[in-house]
Amino acid sequence: MSKRIPATPNGRFRSQEWFDAPGHIDMAALYLERFMNYGLTPDELRSGRPIIGIAQSGSDLSPCNRIHMELAKRTREGIRDAGGICMEFPVHPIFENCRRPTAAIDRNLSMLTLIEILHAYPLDAVVLTTGCDKTTPAGIMAATAVDIPAIVLSGGPMLDGWNDGELVGSGTVIWRSRRALAAGQITEEEFFDAALASAPSAGHCNTMGTASTMNAVAETLGLSLPGCSAIPAPYRERGQMAYETGRRIVEMAYEDLKPSKILTKASFTNAIAMVAATGGSTNAQPHIVAMARHAGVELSDADWMQAHDIPLILNMQPSGKYLGERFHRAGGVPAILAELLDANLIDGAAATVTGKSIAENNSGKNSRDREMIRTVADPIMERAGFMVLKGNLFDFAIMKTSVISKEFRDRYLSEPGNENVFECKAVVFDGSTDYHNRLNDPALGIDERTILVIRGSGVVGWPGSAEVVNMQPPDALLKRGITSLPTLGDGRQSGTSDSPSILNASPESAVGGGLAWLRTGDIIRIDLNKGTCDMLVEPDVIETRKKDGLPPVPESQTPWQEIYRATVSQLHTGGVMEPALKYTKIAEKLPRH
Ligand code: FES
Ligand code: MG
Repeated sequence: MSKRIPATPNGRFRSQEWFDAPGHIDMAALYLERFMNYGLTPDELRSGRPIIGIAQSGSDLSPCNRIHMELAKRTREGIRDAGGICMEFPVHPIFENCRRPTAAIDRNLSMLTLIEILHAYPLDAVVLTTGCDKTTPAGIMAATAVDIPAIVLSGGPMLDGWNDGELVGSGTVIWRSRRALAAGQITEEEFFDAALASAPSAGHCNTMGTASTMNAVAETLGLSLPGCSAIPAPYRERGQMAYETGRRIVEMAYEDLKPSKILTKASFTNAIAMVAATGGSTNAQPHIVAMARHAGVELSDADWMQAHDIPLILNMQPSGKYLGERFHRAGGVPAILAELLDANLIDGAAATVTGKSIAENNSGKNSRDREMIRTVADPIMERAGFMVLKGNLFDFAIMKTSVISKEFRDRYLSEPGNENVFECKAVVFDGSTDYHNRLNDPALGIDERTILVIRGSGVVGWPGSAEVVNMQPPDALLKRGITSLPTLGDGRQSGTSDSPSILNASPESAVGGGLAWLRTGDIIRIDLNKGTCDMLVEPDVIETRKKDGLPPVPESQTPWQEIYRATVSQLHTGGVMEPALKYTKIAEKLPRH
């Protein structure tokens, strides 16, 4: 068989500079010898075949991604069958529900460590194993910065959860049951049973929370094989997808098909459209911005507002009824893309890992399950994207209008002639401990015209930006049937939450954003027509309050917390590690011997 020549600038793989550099047999021996100790041979590593990394994100500490420990066997077989050599290595775990003070602080850390691995070791291409929320953007940010051929293999959602004959979805069931528990409608045992029933198998969250959103985003960016993201973790297609992904990454290594040849502005605006059409997580905002910035793409507020007009066409929790299994059976992400292509709402020319365009991959894959995936002409809800708000409280915040319930709209938005404007009285909490300690204090006077505000929950304040903005009303209101109040904060909220919240407010209070000068009792005016949110407080009063200084935030507890705080950008600009942005196409320069 004649030797295949990679389409890299010098016709060689970068791993050959370790194992097969002319005149460096002494160094090659040093690099090679320890790989022999588990049975690899010098011939394999010096054969000029691509060495493919599997960035293993599954572990006992990453249960959402643990399926990848099994899937990697099939990925390896695909890599071998296509002529590559596989080297699997661990990536820093990021477990959304367990990592304190918040998993978000580890997205940049995981990215940073993966950049070092991809640059410093003899790897020619990489399979990014993704699943739990931040594992997807972290991997993509790293591979984009390094710019070696990379493909995303999602682990897939858990099977649908059932409890008492009802579908129970990850996260969503917890937010709903928590309210029922506080209102005295269910017991603690029933709460626990419902929560556990939502996790019936291996896999990540089975709602359109942040995990499913970010995997759908990866597929829409063109970074995974078509249909990859929605296959439930235990399904047989998941193992088959792992095998095909392994095969494809070897071809991509030979083609030198790197992220810089795939990711353009159109890829990212397509991804924003996908989030709107599926009722995806508000966490997509900082993650999409962060990935785009590492790819050298600037997104504007207008890019988000344009997607606000896109309708909701997927009937999946938390914005709709069903869960991940039905989404996959209804056609998954290709079926959503087919509808968006038909309606001209995305750019079909965007490139993908298959070497074909997003339109070539997905056109005509429309769903036949119209209960699950509707058409753009007959959607579940009009204008489902995030609304961008600004005013004297912040320069940027978003609101997911697709989760605003009818009950909520009736209470706030249906005053004749005043349908998208409302005023409410602020009750301000400094962080989540303060919220939990004082929420049920009658002295706060929280009623159905209150807006609950939380600050100190941004990237610097928390640190990491916490999912705490989806605050529930006090027990007394829940018992009266008032299940949600408007909320506002400089943190994030869980992607599985159905709270009508104004979140990701930037700049945050800890760095002097307007929220720092808000006081309980102030009136906040929100105008959804104009996209504004302001405290009705005179400028000179605000100036006087500045003499009180910024609200206190907790001290850093670890070295990384301190480094993170010193380097992170606000959520508006992706919460990225600013000094990291100047390093692009890192793989073009080989590390020194
Ligand atoms: Fe990991 Fe939801 S907690 S995917
Ligand atoms: Mg989350």
